[in-house]
Amino acid sequence: MAQNLKVLVIGATGYIGKFVVEASAQAGHPTFALVRQSTLADSAKSSIIHNFRNLGVNFVFGDIFDNESLVRAIQQVDVVISTVGRGLLSHQEKIISAIKQAGNVKRFLPSEFGNDVDRVHAVEPAKSMFASKVEIRRAVEAEGIPHTFVVSNFFDGYYLRNFSQPGATEPPRDKIKIFGDGNLKVIYNKEEDIGTYTIRAIDDPRTFNKILYIRPPANIYSTNELVSLWEKKIGRILERTYVSEEELVKNIQETPVPLSTALAISHSAFVKGDHTNFEIEPSIGVEASELYPNVHYTTVEDYLNQFV
Ligand SMILES: NC(=O)c1ccc[n+]([C@@H]2O[C@H](COP(=O)([O-])OP(=O)(O)OC[C@H]3O[C@@H](n4cnc5c(N)ncnc54)[C@H](OP(=O)(O)O)[C@@H]3O)[C@@H](O)[C@H]2O)c1
Repeated sequence: MAQNLKVLVIGATGYIGKFVVEASAQAGHPTFALVRQSTLADSAKSSIIHNFRNLGVNFVFGDIFDNESLVRAIQQVDVVISTVGRGLLSHQEKIISAIKQAGNVKRFLPSEFGNDVDRVHAVEPAKSMFASKVEIRRAVEAEGIPHTFVVSNFFDGYYLRNFSQPGATEPPRDKIKIFGDGNLKVIYNKEEDIGTYTIRAIDDPRTFNKILYIRPPANIYSTNELVSLWEKKIGRILERTYVSEEELVKNIQETPVPLSTALAISHSAFVKGDHTNFEIEPSIGVEASELYPNVHYTTVEDYLNQFV
């Protein structure tokens, strides 16, 4: 029966959205991607569109700012997953309203895919971004919409691939700047695994109205541990420079958006420990690798091997 759940992804062609669409289609769910007409014509998106076509994904035209199109799309499915980007987070009110109008949705997963936003200690501009996600959580709950909030922690491609070094595209080989003292534990997950766990959760009663935390044990590292692991792999020692909280906050304040947002998110994770400074409270949350032990996730070690 689960196989037949129809899934709509709003933000399907975005960075994380495409992995969620892929996981849904691969799991056998009839999968619908809400796209704007302009996206189908965008050459930068052609390989994503091509891949969706190969996977048998259904395209539905729509726009978050066009209520009629949203309701029409939502009426065709059982589950709605939003993966809209930072600029549209608060506009998800429109998705909530369309879900209420449609009246048929069994589960809604709003665009989260990061920290547990009810448990962050962030500075601006991340603080406002997290606050928008909190507002959406409260609105979903207030409307009584069945939901799951996915706390995926860091995407590998954003934060592990470059060891969170602004501007870098590969792990460092000579030196590294470490935010804080490098001892707080941070969680990294590969995008494909985030897609897989998200899709596993959509019809699981254990994730109903809960937070799904993606915290696989082999992916939890302090930066000091991570750098030591990497040093062992490449057979050389990196020069470590530690950036104090004071320096980092000053840097964030002096840096324009969007880089300052990325730095402020790093501050929350590396300096405040917001990925791991709390235990999962069973009445509100569940852990993905415990729920789905047969998912063979990519470990931090496996991920780094490609760069050695
Ligand atoms: N944990 C982490 O490391 C991490 C890193 C990055 C992001 N995130 C989180 O992941 C979530 C998704 O972010 P993202 O970076 O993947 O998003 P993104 O790449 O910016 O994708 C946004 C999606 O929304 C679509 N879109 C834009 N305007 C729209 C409209 N008017 N109507 C309907 N769709 C529209 C875009 O379509 P087009 O393709 O046509 O533009 C695209 O598919 C966010 O909550 C973000 O905070 C987490």
